Amino acid sequence: MNTAAAHHRSPVTIIGLGPMGQTMAAVFLDRGFEVTVWNRTASKADSLAAKGAVRASTISEALAANELVILSLTDYDAMYAILEQASEHLSGKVFVNLSSDTPEKAREAAKWLADRGARHLTGGVQVPPSGIGRPESSTFYSGPKDVFEAHRKTLEVLTGADYRGEDPGLAALYYQMQMDIFWTSMLSYLHAVTVAAANGITAEQFLPYASATMSSLPKFIEFYTPRIDAGEHPGDVDRLAMGVASVDHVVHTTKDSGIDASLPAAVLQVFKRGMAGGHAGDSFTSLIEIFRKPAS
Ligand SMILES: NC(=O)c1ccc[n+]([C@@H]2O[C@H](COP(=O)([O-])OP(=O)(O)OC[C@H]3O[C@@H](n4cnc5c(N)ncnc54)[C@H](OP(=O)(O)O)[C@@H]3O)[C@@H](O)[C@H]2O)c1
Repeated sequence: MNTAAAHHRSPVTIIGLGPMGQTMAAVFLDRGFEVTVWNRTASKADSLAAKGAVRASTISEALAANELVILSLTDYDAMYAILEQASEHLSGKVFVNLSSDTPEKAREAAKWLADRGARHLTGGVQVPPSGIGRPESSTFYSGPKDVFEAHRKTLEVLTGADYRGEDPGLAALYYQMQMDIFWTSMLSYLHAVTVAAANGITAEQFLPYASATMSSLPKFIEFYTPRIDAGEHPGDVDRLAMGVASVDHVVHTTKDSGIDASLPAAVLQVFKRGMAGGHAGDSFTSLIEIFRKPAS
């Protein structure tokens, strides 16, 4: 990167050098940005310092270096643990918090920082470190639109930027909704792989079938989306009574294989509550009504 091009890039401070923060810092350096880094475990800055990053020796020094500060921490509690030590250096800073946490924590943090004269953008990175530096990757952002627009170009060095709105909780909410789908889907996959193994089928042998089922899901989601938004759950293509029998078969296949059945048993419980709620003839999407009434 030549120096003239680098002058157009606003410098950035990165606090938190786990796998994510390290990759982000390296990508900024590769693109010619001036990068200041700080991490609780200082040795994690070694390889970045060797690549040209400025290693701040204190949090205050890291904050003083630049207006734009990216936080890449385990959660928001880590942010308080770090920033509370340097609260007199927060005023005038823009924090882009790419640490995962709940929407409520993001809202509280935005207020906490605003009370100290700083501004906060919430971010939810949707890719692992290998996806950083790729425009086709995506990160949710929310918070003040002017702050987002002012720093959009810099943030787009990391991933594509999907601005969700002013509410600081929105990026975290979208992120958590994605994680809801991701973890439950991946656990269902792991569970099926365990049943497969108990029956002498390897993960490799099962792979095309697992992939085919996963790949079929968007078609189902697209089909049910307008019905869900309309609040309609007709049993014309699937009935909850059929679904409950199907999940019951999964539970028994699991038990017959000598495998822990707690995951499909939890699914079966939800289906049974739907049956008890009078939805036997409705689609399984009527289980939304069950989710709306948390079990006591
Ligand atoms: N890795 C992924 O694939 C991925 C994908 C999408 C989103 N994310 C999110 O991105 C964020 C960062 O990911 P990561 O994998 O780099 O996380 P990580 O391994 O948990 O590392 C995060 C950083 O947090 C610091 N930290 C934690 N607690 C602290 C405390 N009390 N005081 C000071 N520093 C503290 C760690 O410092 P030390 O080095 O001193 O321990 C480390 O630098 C997380 O919120 C994660 O959920 C990660």
